[in-house]
Amino acid sequence: PFAQYSKAEILADAKRERGDPAKLYLSERKSHELAHKCGGAYIGDGWVLTAAHCVPKFDLGPIDGRARNLITDRRIRMGTQNLTAGGAVFQIERVVVHSGYEPENKPHDIAMIKIVDNGQTARLGARLKTIRLHSPAKPLFNNEDVWVYGWGWLSPRAPGTAARQSVGGTTQRNPTELQQAKLKHVSGSRCQSLYKAWGPGMLCISGAGTGRDSCQGDSGGPLVRIEGNEKVLVGIVSQGYGCAYKDMPAAYTRV
Ligand code: ARG
Repeated sequence: PFAQYSKAEILADAKRERGDPAKLYLSERKSHELAHKCGGAYIGDGWVLTAAHCVPKFDLGPIDGRARNLITDRRIRMGTQNLTAGGAVFQIERVVVHSGYEPENKPHDIAMIKIVDNGQTARLGARLKTIRLHSPAKPLFNNEDVWVYGWGWLSPRAPGTAARQSVGGTTQRNPTELQQAKLKHVSGSRCQSLYKAWGPGMLCISGAGTGRDSCQGDSGGPLVRIEGNEKVLVGIVSQGYGCAYKDMPAAYTRV
């Protein structure tokens, strides 16, 4: 069921030297780590909000000789905090990508996915709630607390050559249980020199010296503000340099 990598890709990857920036450590990973791609947030009526770079193109290329695309090969699991179990798994009916998105610098990194259940608009059980969208009338203020959720890698990525390895030299891993991190919304002036497509459609989010950050695999997932008892969707995990480096805020798409 995990069609993200072919056997040939896994074998070729195993032959690369440790520390080779192209090495993905595929043979060391559990199958759920090979399959997990991105997060998303359910906004109602069968629509999931995610990042545009999570749905890069419909043609995903051949795997073990078989053509594959997003519709045939990807599924969305929702309504559980466990990456591999529970909730329900849905098929994708269609994908809408923001027309201003481009993969190079990732402006407008936002997309909508319509999920279906046996050809019908998906009906969702009681465990799954629709998240309310942030109102532009109440912009985030500087240093406001925000929360991010996801199954992305758990350790900071080592700088330089050892991509996909953490600073301690171990392989970065996806957890099976959903993680959360409390972060801070900071002034855009901290991000605009780092991100080429920086603009009003992005949010600058910092770990504020705590060593917390989102990381690979968290993309597309929700950034929320808490209003009273309710979580409100303010942003989408988009891009960063490495993970959890000091003074390296990440860019999120403003919802
Ligand atoms: N682009 C990454 C993904 O596809 C998310 C990067 C977030 N990085 C960060 N340092 N906050 O999962």
